[in-house]
Amino acid sequence: MKLGFIGTGKIASSVIIGICNSKIKFKQIIISPRNKRVANNLKKKFKKVKIAKNNQDVVNKSNWIFLSITPKVGDKIIKNLKFKSSQIIISFISTINLSQLKKMIKVKSKIIRAIPLPPISLKKGPVPICPPNKKVKNFFDQIGSTVEIKNEKLSINFWSTSGMMAAYYDMLRVMSDWLVKKGVKRQDAQKYITSLFSALSEDAFVNSKKELKYLVKESQTPKGLNEQGLKEMTKKGVYKSVVNTLNSIHKRLNK
Ligand SMILES: NC(=O)c1ccc[n+]([C@@H]2O[C@H](COP(=O)([O-])OP(=O)(O)OC[C@H]3O[C@@H](n4cnc5c(N)ncnc54)[C@H](OP(=O)(O)O)[C@@H]3O)[C@@H](O)[C@H]2O)c1
Repeated sequence: MKLGFIGTGKIASSVIIGICNSKIKFKQIIISPRNKRVANNLKKKFKKVKIAKNNQDVVNKSNWIFLSITPKVGDKIIKNLKFKSSQIIISFISTINLSQLKKMIKVKSKIIRAIPLPPISLKKGPVPICPPNKKVKNFFDQIGSTVEIKNEKLSINFWSTSGMMAAYYDMLRVMSDWLVKKGVKRQDAQKYITSLFSALSEDAFVNSKKELKYLVKESQTPKGLNEQGLKEMTKKGVYKSVVNTLNSIHKRLNK
């Protein structure tokens, strides 16, 4: 099987690294020449990665095509590409929906939307796909955990929460910077904060069948530091603002 990527930015390179370090059987990965630096790095790192002449060359040489471009670029270029009905097209583009993709692609190929996230390079993290597709599910299960979603409207709810990644990392950055200002070496500060939150996330994941409110409760001692932290953040409206932000991302995706 030959896998083609149109757009070679952050998400394409994370997926390609995940694939190349996994047991997925494939013949070749064909990438578009953009972004040049990322494309050359991937080619240097992995023998099976080849750089195509242009976007149409990627389509012509691949069985599966991953659309890893921004919505603006997608609007401009997808309609000019000639696909075959035997191809599977997987779109990572967050704000172009299935019916718009069908119109742009014209031929009756299988079109799946998927939202992998950067930790896929470590073969970790959820990959919501819509509509369900067995082959695509088996593929992503080898580099993450696929969540099949029947209804596109429902899938938008998942896409919305994935818009909070940068905000999450920024919280880690703010705490690390705070430690640095208190005189801790940057490397030690970042190691402490990232390993603390990695452990907390792992604990939450292992216990994800239990309601999360129990973890919130169990991590507080009466009158303790965590109780103070939670109370102050709640009073300042931090969690309300999380919900408001999710609502506004959701609104944008629903357009
Ligand atoms: N980043 C994430 O975590 C993530 C997760 C899930 C889904 N997505 C979605 O995936 C898509 C890509 O996101 P990204 O973060 O990977 O963006 P990105 O890093 O900006 O990558 C976009 C890529 O598209 C290339 N490009 C621009 N114009 C092109 C053209 N005419 N033909 C071919 N390639 C072209 C860019 O090349 P140049 O640098 O040369 O312009 C770049 O390699 C977006 O729709 C985003 O919503 C992203």
